[in-house]
Amino acid sequence: MSELSKSLYNDTPIKEWKQILNDNMDYHYCDPMFNSDIFSNVKTVLDIGCGWGGLARELQNKFNLNVTCLSNSPQQIDYIKPDFKTILADADTFKTDLYYDLILYVESICHIKDITLQNISNNTNTIMIHDFVSNRERNYQHFATKVRTRDQYEKLLNDAGFEMTRFHEHPYQQWIKESEFWLNNITPNMSYQIRVLKQFTTNILNGTYSKHNVNCCSIVANKMK
Ligand SMILES: C[S@@+](CC[C@H](N)C(=O)[O-])C[C@H]1O[C@@H](n2cnc3c(N)ncnc32)[C@H](O)[C@@H]1O
Repeated sequence: MSELSKSLYNDTPIKEWKQILNDNMDYHYCDPMFNSDIFSNVKTVLDIGCGWGGLARELQNKFNLNVTCLSNSPQQIDYIKPDFKTILADADTFKTDLYYDLILYVESICHIKDITLQNISNNTNTIMIHDFVSNRERNYQHFATKVRTRDQYEKLLNDAGFEMTRFHEHPYQQWIKESEFWLNNITPNMSYQIRVLKQFTTNILNGTYSKHNVNCCSIVANKMK
């Protein structure tokens, strides 16, 4: 999964991403700030699969948090480097000795192997996941995306020594705003990855994923005592 997800993000000229994403370069659906009360009680954050730092900027500006951004994309890391501590790494194998008050996965764990949570289990007491969920596991090869079930998330977290303390499934309607925005910004003859995004957002707007019972979800998990 990771080679495909690497090329999905790495090969496209940044000017194309800048044309499609908003000025903050956010690359997520729904609202990752859904559980924002968590951010008031932490200081250090590791953002795994940070994209172009959209959420990191928001966390720094709104909550004055000390965010470290991790991605497997050299392009993203170069983009963020002037503003944040960065780690260029594959989350499938990434391990660290450092402790973070919060470890975040915002629409990234769908690209990453289950083992990631065990690899970082001693490095935080709180994990927040914002991603996709369905009533059964679904693999969308073109998008290098694995959609897990709520039970799979729960097992994954338990196996790493964490207990799911919050789970919220967002209504399908909340995918629409970003999908329309990105789709409107896609012009002909863009790179392969953008054509993949075009298909993905088209599927959202025509209700394909609604038929598949796929939605966004927000999860908070705490270390078991
Ligand atoms: C949909 S984007 C989300 C970006 C960002 N979290 C945001 O909300 O704007 C998925 C991110 O996961 C990263 N990613 C995918 N697979 C990865 C892996 N194996 N290791 C590290 N990062 C990965 C991609 O490079 C990209 O930054």
